[in-house]
Amino acid sequence: MINKDFVNNMFDVKGKVAIVTGATGALGKAVCFGYGHAGMKIMVTGRKEETCKALCDELEAEGIECSFSTGDPAIENDVIKVVNDTVSKFGEINVLVTSAGYNNPQPIVEQNLSMWKTIMDSDVQGTWLFCKYVGKQMIEQGKGGKVILVSSARSKMGMANYTGYCTAKGGIDLMAQSLACEWTAKYGINVNTINPTVFRSDLTEWMFDPDSEVYKNFLKRLPVGRLGEPEDFVGPCIFLASSASDFMTGANVATEGGYWAN
Ligand SMILES: NC(=O)c1ccc[n+]([C@@H]2O[C@H](COP(=O)([O-])OP(=O)(O)OC[C@H]3O[C@@H](n4cnc5c(N)ncnc54)[C@H](OP(=O)(O)O)[C@@H]3O)[C@@H](O)[C@H]2O)c1
Repeated sequence: MINKDFVNNMFDVKGKVAIVTGATGALGKAVCFGYGHAGMKIMVTGRKEETCKALCDELEAEGIECSFSTGDPAIENDVIKVVNDTVSKFGEINVLVTSAGYNNPQPIVEQNLSMWKTIMDSDVQGTWLFCKYVGKQMIEQGKGGKVILVSSARSKMGMANYTGYCTAKGGIDLMAQSLACEWTAKYGINVNTINPTVFRSDLTEWMFDPDSEVYKNFLKRLPVGRLGEPEDFVGPCIFLASSASDFMTGANVATEGGYWAN
């Protein structure tokens, strides 16, 4: 029934436990603060103890309940440890956001196999491993869950020098669609991707220079008329973690200022 309580509670994520991978990055950090201020408990994870701890300190200073567990998302035993640490600390896992990822644009003839593997491991293998072990935990809990894979607008658009990244992100979209088929009806676990275009981060800061050709070219393709800020990322993440998105699974949620529309 669509009554006042139903509508008022549909975005309520208070008390849910989320693991955020790549938490120390620009988008991961935005998710941690967004979820934390919405009342969720956050397990910060990344490869370096120092940066994970510093982020946790920042979150705690704002009254957010959090913890951290370090590990490389592409190493199976590290992922098992992060999942176990989360369950030990918070008792359960309700939401997974995989925001760890890496790109190194290079012409294919100049890219060596080891760099291709680094891109595939950080984007695809790490995502797959977190899905596997968090999914196993969610299935055991028997309460469903929400899995949000950070992909890219590039998952459906080729680009010169992006053979690794575009392939990896296209793979992530299909991973979400396959898991949706595998899990949603059977276990109540929704799996969707968020597909961003350029958002402000340490790596993309240079693209925000209004005098640069890159910036001007991007704006020609962006119906929203600007590039993304970390704040723009939070709403879709809360939506996909909440019951408001219960009927969505296997979706690739455009969070790209209309880039796919143009
Ligand atoms: N910002 C954008 O414009 C944009 C656009 C489209 C898609 N995306 C995607 O959104 C996600 C987050 O992007 P972001 O802007 O937050 O990136 P970011 O600031 O570079 O952060 C990504 C995080 O991933 C982890 N990481 C980096 N290299 C890794 C590797 N080789 N193996 C494992 N983990 C690695 C790092 O965490 P630790 O060092 O703590 O491990 C890093 O903090 C990525 O998947 C990215 O591809 C971003």
